[in-house]
Amino acid sequence: MRARLIDGKAFAAGLVERVAAAAARLEAAHGIKPGLAVVIVGEDPASQIYVRNKGETTARAGMRSDTHRLAETTTQAELLALIAQLNADAGIHGILVQLPLPIHIDSAAVLGAIDPDKDVDGFHVVNAGRLAVGLPGLVPCTPLGSVMLLKEALSELSGLNAVIVGRSNIVGKPMAQLLLAENCTVTVAHSRSRDLPALCRAADILVAAAGRPEMIRGDWIKPGATVIDVGINRVPSADPVKAAEGKTRVVGDVALAEAVEMAGAITPVPGGVGPMTIACLLANTYTAACRAAGVEPETLAG
Ligand code: GUN
Repeated sequence: MRARLIDGKAFAAGLVERVAAAAARLEAAHGIKPGLAVVIVGEDPASQIYVRNKGETTARAGMRSDTHRLAETTTQAELLALIAQLNADAGIHGILVQLPLPIHIDSAAVLGAIDPDKDVDGFHVVNAGRLAVGLPGLVPCTPLGSVMLLKEALSELSGLNAVIVGRSNIVGKPMAQLLLAENCTVTVAHSRSRDLPALCRAADILVAAAGRPEMIRGDWIKPGATVIDVGINRVPSADPVKAAEGKTRVVGDVALAEAVEMAGAITPVPGGVGPMTIACLLANTYTAACRAAGVEPETLAG
């Protein structure tokens, strides 16, 4: 079997268009323009690229986009003061603090200071709790986008065996909550799990979120399974000459060439889950703006 490649890039572009149209209607009907504030501390090159992409996509969707670039030497008190100011700003509906933060800043304290109703990353413990008990809240963008792609690929998830490899607060745990809510039978596997290949082979839905390049091999995949690869790993180029020149390539947590021979459908890296993360950030900002105004958000999933 040769797997169908799930085109996250195209799905994300459609989602951004739907968010932009819904945001335009919100502004026309209620005079509210959804606003996202992104805060970055320091000069980490990868973070700079992510933040620029977030700002540009938000502005392209017709939403307000403010980027706060703070020096590496910013103190925790200064960062907390900015968050308090953004919490109080009625024109800002979403606040995202780019991670990682410099080591002299306590990330948990900073994330915990964001108003949960503006926490468009869904990282605040209040939003984690809401997700766990099934209350409306803001859901972390990568798992939210992954579930949208799964529903696109499978339409009905109920009763399927889902195995998630990775137990992070950002992906693995919220993904487990979302798939439980879809009536999947959920297993969360991790680096200490016994016989990981056997666990994976039981999965109708396999979510790879371990952060280890090409860790999941083709023979770990049940024939016909749907595979969601959340990994984004930079590794040396496959060409030894280019690798010697320091050239790199991006791979997922799944060995894609092997996996396409086994899976029914799979998200490629790049072009799978990655583009969904920013699209879901915009969707969360729109949702937060609607809730702040007491307006029912339109359905965006597509
Ligand atoms: N750094 C890498 N990915 C993310 C993300 O999704 N949110 C935030 N805040 N920081 C990140």
